[in-house]
Amino acid sequence: MGWDNEDSGEEGSDDVEQVTALAGQVEEAVSTALGRVRPELDGVDPLVRRSDRADFQSNVALASAKRVGARPVALAAELDEALRDDVGPVVADVAVSGPGFLNVTITDEALWRQVTLRLADPRLGVGRPEHGARVVVDYSAPNIAKEMHVGHLRTTIIGDSLARVLAHLGATVIRQNHLGDWGTQFGMLIQYLDEHPEARWRHSDLERDVADGASSVSALDDLYRSARTQFDADPSFADRARARVVALQAGDEATLAHWREIVEESEHAFREIYARLGVQLQPDDSAGESFYNPWLPEVVDELLAAGVATRSNGAVVVESAEVRAPDGQPAVLMVQKSDGGYGYDTTDIATLRYRVRELKADRILYVVDARQALHFRLLFEAARRMGWLSDGVEAEHVAFGTVLGPDGRPFRTRAGGTVRLMHLIDEAVATARRTVQEREPDLDPEELDRIAEQAGVGAIKYADLSTSRLKDYVFDIERMVSLTGNTSVYLQYAHARIRSILRKAGDATSAAPDLGLPVHPAERALVLALDEFGAVLREVAATDEPHRLCGYLFETARAFTEFYENCPVLSAPDDVRANRLALCRLAAGTLREGLGLLGIAAPERM
Ligand code: ARG
Repeated sequence: MGWDNEDSGEEGSDDVEQVTALAGQVEEAVSTALGRVRPELDGVDPLVRRSDRADFQSNVALASAKRVGARPVALAAELDEALRDDVGPVVADVAVSGPGFLNVTITDEALWRQVTLRLADPRLGVGRPEHGARVVVDYSAPNIAKEMHVGHLRTTIIGDSLARVLAHLGATVIRQNHLGDWGTQFGMLIQYLDEHPEARWRHSDLERDVADGASSVSALDDLYRSARTQFDADPSFADRARARVVALQAGDEATLAHWREIVEESEHAFREIYARLGVQLQPDDSAGESFYNPWLPEVVDELLAAGVATRSNGAVVVESAEVRAPDGQPAVLMVQKSDGGYGYDTTDIATLRYRVRELKADRILYVVDARQALHFRLLFEAARRMGWLSDGVEAEHVAFGTVLGPDGRPFRTRAGGTVRLMHLIDEAVATARRTVQEREPDLDPEELDRIAEQAGVGAIKYADLSTSRLKDYVFDIERMVSLTGNTSVYLQYAHARIRSILRKAGDATSAAPDLGLPVHPAERALVLALDEFGAVLREVAATDEPHRLCGYLFETARAFTEFYENCPVLSAPDDVRANRLALCRLAAGTLREGLGLLGIAAPERM
């Protein structure tokens, strides 16, 4: 588990050259100038940003003038002077503006060179800054014997995208699916199955279910409901169910066999969803709660021996030194209940220890609902006190908000039930199908189906990823598959349109850009946008925020539209056309790669 399951973008790391972004080159130049004119400011962030006034702007003179007792304008003038030495192949011009901004303009030649260099690299010049990091990404983690519902959407989609981005940047990513496969509810399910053999999901039923668009967990959902009903209504059944929990925990073979059956059936259904969503979780990534059972007693002993856990009314708890419960008492992690049982908290403590000790993680991302914030705060605090989390290991709760229905309340069916994920996917695909068909009535039905699937699934994912993580968002299929606005369908269309231009250009596509040609302002904006790709990916990896990549792709697609409206491509004179086609190629490649890192397909035509 875990070990044979690592995903790293390491292959070929030696023969691939990273292209330094222009922003990085300007930062370098400003930093050098800064160290030269004011040695005491050596190492200060040069604060270089993209700007409308020039290509880049540095605010460092404004930010640091006070520290060296100078006026910002004066410091900016000194830097301007020093940067004059850099005017050459990359920097075309430097100027001071306003109260002390430093404006830097890039040469046309350097812009074309960036395009050339990025195109020459299959990774578009993006490096592997995460190389050497071992990152555990805990995501999806649905509960066995329940249908995956909309509540599992965000963790699954966000987690998958973060795993992709980190792996692309060279990290060794260990995906972990912390399935809820253990707990007292299994006593009731197993007992019910035992007493009602007819309730066992029959495969013929299942196949019918699948044909109806339902998944095999529906049958398990039914089992769950029936068992629950009897559990609540019939005290003697409830007693027998509790005895089953004891039998399960004691490792009774017949009970375990039932349990395995239920787990397998559920996992089968989860896999169907993952396959449909294009989520990279594999069976080997599953390390459910039950996996940690063997270590629970030992973990409790270790916590007690270290004095981190204490006994309290027959239970074992970790009292927080940092967080108080509403009653003013320290908030607690329940390590062992007074009846001797272990729960979610204990398992998570054992899990964290395992990830540090066995998986050798140096970063652990828990992509879990914001409502579990307290749980993770307490968990990380306990782990720090145990020394499992130290300076070398970082644990982060990658929290997210709730998916809301049209009424602004947590998304539910009309009847108030949970919304099944498969159902939502079907609906999005059907809506996307209509949109695509309207635009391209002549697509053959098979291709239409394929594109509709990619557009519908992409739309659900993108709507989720493009909202900043902690915000709630309203699940609105019409808006998600809209052709305009910040949607995946818009981006997929932008990509397909560029691909179509390139197809029309035929052989002319491969010519290298002529570095001597002047750059049109719309070309300039597009090149500068394309040059930022790697920096944006690094930001996503550092902040765990895929919406930054979405925003970037949207802006890049808009820059392309602006370019295409102002700069004819196919009808341009040969030399100009070659340069513009190169820009098209880089734009298509960047959109495709970027969408891919969000887990979204980029069809050739739409
Ligand atoms: N199964 C849990 C739930 O549905 C999520 C588990 C998240 N991961 C963890 N290590 N606690 O709420």
